Amino acid sequence: MGNQPSLMDKLTSLAKRRGFVFQSSEIYGGLGSTWDYGPLGVELKRNVKNRWWRDMVTAREDVVGMDAAILMHPKVWEASGHVEQFHDLMVENKLTNRRHRLDQLLAGQGQEVVAGLATALGIKVQAGDSPVDVTIPRIMAAIAERGGDVELNGHGILDPGASGKFKEGDWTVPREFALMFKTHIGPTEDEASVTYLRPETAQGIFVNFLNVQSTARAKLPFGIAQMGKAFRNEITTGNFLFRTREFEQMELEYFVRPDETTKWLEYWADLRLNWYLALGITASKLRLRPHSAEELAHYSKACYDVEYQFPFMQQADGSPGWGELEGIADRGTYDLSRHQEASGKKLAFFDPELNQSVLPAVVETSAGVDRTVLTLLADAYHEEQVPSASSGQSETRVVLRLAPALAPITVAVFPLVNKDGMPELARKLVDDLRGDFAAFYDAGGSIGRRYRRQDEAGTPFGVTIDGQTTEDQTVTVRDRDSMAQERVALEQVAGYVREKMGG
Ligand code: GAP
Repeated sequence: MGNQPSLMDKLTSLAKRRGFVFQSSEIYGGLGSTWDYGPLGVELKRNVKNRWWRDMVTAREDVVGMDAAILMHPKVWEASGHVEQFHDLMVENKLTNRRHRLDQLLAGQGQEVVAGLATALGIKVQAGDSPVDVTIPRIMAAIAERGGDVELNGHGILDPGASGKFKEGDWTVPREFALMFKTHIGPTEDEASVTYLRPETAQGIFVNFLNVQSTARAKLPFGIAQMGKAFRNEITTGNFLFRTREFEQMELEYFVRPDETTKWLEYWADLRLNWYLALGITASKLRLRPHSAEELAHYSKACYDVEYQFPFMQQADGSPGWGELEGIADRGTYDLSRHQEASGKKLAFFDPELNQSVLPAVVETSAGVDRTVLTLLADAYHEEQVPSASSGQSETRVVLRLAPALAPITVAVFPLVNKDGMPELARKLVDDLRGDFAAFYDAGGSIGRRYRRQDEAGTPFGVTIDGQTTEDQTVTVRDRDSMAQERVALEQVAGYVREKMGG
């Protein structure tokens, strides 16, 4: 591989070149792990969010939406367990001053390193124990139990990215690192004015549970959906949009009778996996993984992750690695009981079928918008050799094979040349198409270059107005993936595109 740019480098560069995603505050040197969406990126992201809202809320009778404020009463985060528990263990390499989240550092080590550290901590490692699913969570629990007082040196833990004598790190003892961003409300910056930027949207749903239930007159089972920004002061960031400090979530809290969570967990896990498949993501790179007991969050009784085989997740032994796209969790009655207790307000409500008051349990589906966008881009990115129009030799074509319904531009219209009435016809066609599709007019550069630009933008259809159009009112429609061109009557272009997009 040597100096070959990685797929992630290529994606980041294409994202900037075509206006999908820019580094935040770039003219000031950038701000770590924060990204801005440009003209194409904002459309792709909006298409993902619209699709989620349509499928999870609009199309369903049992789910309603809401939109809570990002700032909430600080007691919310005490009751939810975040103030006490939402920490990561961080270690620093004293030679390179690089900081790492300990669980992620260990996930990148060889199996024998993880097993060695576990044994030193008195943990029995059985043959077949997965380091990531079983051994590392046990190590993390053992370290937390000892208050972080653990010697990490002498186990061969390497600093990824460092070289030479810096490679085998000189590690500090693990320290806890709070993930919530703190801020202050009002003019005084004292303890009494502290509040937090929400680290998940879910709590806005839980504290509004009775407001929504009573106004929507909802009966169990029913769901409340919300999407919006969340913030986490992550230690280890990177990998483009995968883990950032500001991101968007799409969360659905499904309230059920407490004895029915298992059934609903299975239902939502299947449904959410199928949702990603319907976005056109490669099936062999998607999976549903149940959490081991060791991995479960403090509030969760059982959990599945929808995972994607991200190109940068390769494991130490070279095998492909999987990264979380979404978590589907049985949270039981944890959240509502905690808020009921902390606020002193009753959150149970009368279930007419059971003829008694019930505090519902929750099955949550929690997805990342930005992670979905990254997955779509990574999955859609293809390079292929095609004959060059100018030299007759082959050249590399970069194409984003995004599902047509998600592509930022659905149809691009090109006048072959900027004369003979072609620009006027092309402009008129774009105006006609705009009511129904994301249409784009491009007259700049050779037709070959214009096709390539739209291939990189993921535009599924390219319509060219040429000399023949003025004579017989037909155009060529080029298919992004096959590059095949068909002649279609001008007045049938909209119908043609609609049909190809599945109605
Ligand atoms: N309410 C549960 C919850 O927030 P989570 O597993 O911490 O669960 C859910 O987050 C999803 O949010 C993740 O699967 C991921 O898609 C997204 N997410 C979490 N942290 C993120 C980060 N730092 N950057 C980008 N996306 C993130």
